[in-house]
Amino acid sequence: MNSTCVVVTTAEGGNPYGCLVTFIVSASIQPRRVVVMTSYENLTHEVIERTGNMAINLIPADKPDWLSHWGYQSGRDIDKFEGVEWHPGENGCPVLAEATGHIEGDVVDTIDGGDHAVRLVGLTTAQLKRPKSATLSMIDALAHGWEEPNVAPPPPR
Ligand SMILES: Cc1cc2nc3c(=O)[nH]c(=O)nc-3n(C[C@H](O)[C@H](O)[C@H](O)COP(=O)(O)O)c2cc1C
Repeated sequence: MNSTCVVVTTAEGGNPYGCLVTFIVSASIQPRRVVVMTSYENLTHEVIERTGNMAINLIPADKPDWLSHWGYQSGRDIDKFEGVEWHPGENGCPVLAEATGHIEGDVVDTIDGGDHAVRLVGLTTAQLKRPKSATLSMIDALAHGWEEPNVAPPPPR
């Protein structure tokens, strides 16, 4: 399955948090909603649990280095926002200056998906800054050799 690669961000106590997410899909046109799945292991997941909101930043196709920066390091260990240009969106969540575009939203509902929480997110803002630019997808991520970390391989058949 292909899906868009995004950086999901949130903010708490003036501090920014964010991680790479590829488990994301459209859910509803009216009202506008998407489904975003975050791993229980991630710091960003923990914070979203409390803030109940997020910004979803589209990754430019020419920024494959964002995969490792946002997807292979935890905010528990390093400040992923150091040296990254960003500003608070309308809901206060970090909007990355170099993102192709972004949407913001509030968590409407959450269910337990297994090792990820499945969040229905109602959109409050959408901005496409570079309409003609391609965005990074999961196929691109796999082509660059990046896979979902911390996920045990399936049992042998
Ligand atoms: C290709 C790729 C796809 C990923 N997809 C997701 C995802 O859909 N949901 C998620 O919660 N984490 C996903 N991750 C993992 C997180 O981005 C990663 O664990 C990150 O370091 C968590 O950072 P944090 O602890 O600062 O939140 C993915 C990582 C990679 C490399």
